[in-house]
Amino acid sequence: MLHLTPIGLQRQKIQILFIPVCENQPIHSDAVVSALVKRAMAFEEFKGKKDQELTLHQPPECAAERVVFSGIGPVEALEADTLRRMAGRGAKRCIQLGMARMWLAAPDPAATGIAEADGLKALLEGAFLGNHRFDRYKAKKEKKPLGRIDILVPSKPAGRLRRLPAEIETICSAAVMAREWVNLPSNAKPPEALAQLIAGVAKARKLAVEVLKEKQLRQKKMGALLAVASGSNNRPAMVTLQYNGGDRRPPVVLVGKGVTFDSGGINLKTGDSLPDMKGDMAGAAAVAATLAAAAGLKLKRRLVGVIPLVENMVSGRSTRPGDIVQTFSGKTVEIGNTDAEGRLILADAMAYAEWRFKPEVMIDVATLTGACVVALGEKIAGVFSKDEALQAAMVASGRRTHERCWPLPLPEDYKELLKSAYADINNMPNTRYGAAISAALFLSEFVGPTRWAHLDIAGPAFHKKEDAYCGPGGTGFGVRLLVDWLMNLP
Ligand code: BES
Ligand code: MN
Ligand code: ZN
Repeated sequence: MLHLTPIGLQRQKIQILFIPVCENQPIHSDAVVSALVKRAMAFEEFKGKKDQELTLHQPPECAAERVVFSGIGPVEALEADTLRRMAGRGAKRCIQLGMARMWLAAPDPAATGIAEADGLKALLEGAFLGNHRFDRYKAKKEKKPLGRIDILVPSKPAGRLRRLPAEIETICSAAVMAREWVNLPSNAKPPEALAQLIAGVAKARKLAVEVLKEKQLRQKKMGALLAVASGSNNRPAMVTLQYNGGDRRPPVVLVGKGVTFDSGGINLKTGDSLPDMKGDMAGAAAVAATLAAAAGLKLKRRLVGVIPLVENMVSGRSTRPGDIVQTFSGKTVEIGNTDAEGRLILADAMAYAEWRFKPEVMIDVATLTGACVVALGEKIAGVFSKDEALQAAMVASGRRTHERCWPLPLPEDYKELLKSAYADINNMPNTRYGAAISAALFLSEFVGPTRWAHLDIAGPAFHKKEDAYCGPGGTGFGVRLLVDWLMNLP
């Protein structure tokens, strides 16, 4: 599907070639590409400015039927994500035109200032991700995705670059899988069904899979998770995925929030926030997909994914505000608000994961709070950790993958906000201010000595409008981020 192919435009029969063009400096060293760019720049309407585009048909310099020049602005402002976006838009454009293949001429790293591997990675990722369409509920699939994408490079790739296309395919197909799960409507993914979807993929990747059903969750005394699940006719489940990369260190544990629909429960949500809540299992999707990618990449670490799955609904069996439950850890929680359900299922899942797996490090990923979206907007996740190195590593992975994360604090004294008159802790803070922080502090009460970071992905997990390399809906946020973090672990 993805290929790095030596460039040879005079001979190559090409239906559509994309060439990124900067407005103020040549960025290609290939003579034919340079001549093509010169031809394009002679037109008044194309100067390489950001988002400008020009198409030439059968230019005499090469054997391509169409050459699309994509303006990417000034070279100083160029980032890897500029290339990722450019490639993503290219793939979408090809689909619109009914193409089966796409070619793209990679710029010269010496001219762009973007390291060769980083630039090629971004182009491969953008094209692959931009090629994904969620159309399984459309009777007529009018537009077909591309069957093959060639990034044209100066010479046959050597060493690590030779394996890059397959590696990017593994990672990005996992991200696409996460998107698909998020996009599934809630009626197609009640907890037990989603557990089976995840288990199916995991088994195909030779992961060890366990699915705990309601009865076993009850035996294990996961009172908080069961309280959230109680209002729904769909039973909860908890999936454990284990990957053995062959080392002897304690595992890395990832925990993902899997609320297949969050109505808010008795604290019912209102109006326009409800339709998005099918995506409240994006953390679960990211964790499952990351494990699948890790297995595909044959990472050399032990990894565990723990995925609590519930539906938060309203009924005569729903948990009431004020109810008190006992968690797996033994601590009691007053459920001050049934819409703060994510922290309840994570409390049980994380305490269970720590107790059972004694991880070296644990990360939880959750669409946890609207407040985090208020704080950081819709494209940046919050990362909370008492371990500054871990927090910094996550921010660094966010930079590299453009799945951006920003540090938020865990101030001890804010734990005041979660005091309960009757139980050990309240799931509802006594102020609406700092709600992303109080949610993270709640979680911290259910993690012992383990190094731990919490990712609040409520903003970037899904979006209404499509962008350069993602359709509307689930973004797959977290998969490329976590895989990058895992690949760069010491
Ligand atoms: N799933 C929501 C958070 C959310 C909001 C995700 C918007 C994605 C987009 C979560 O379960 C929730 O309802 N949180 C409450 C917590 C509050 C009751 C303390 C919130 O953020 O309002
Ligand atoms: Mn909620
Ligand atoms: Zn929720």
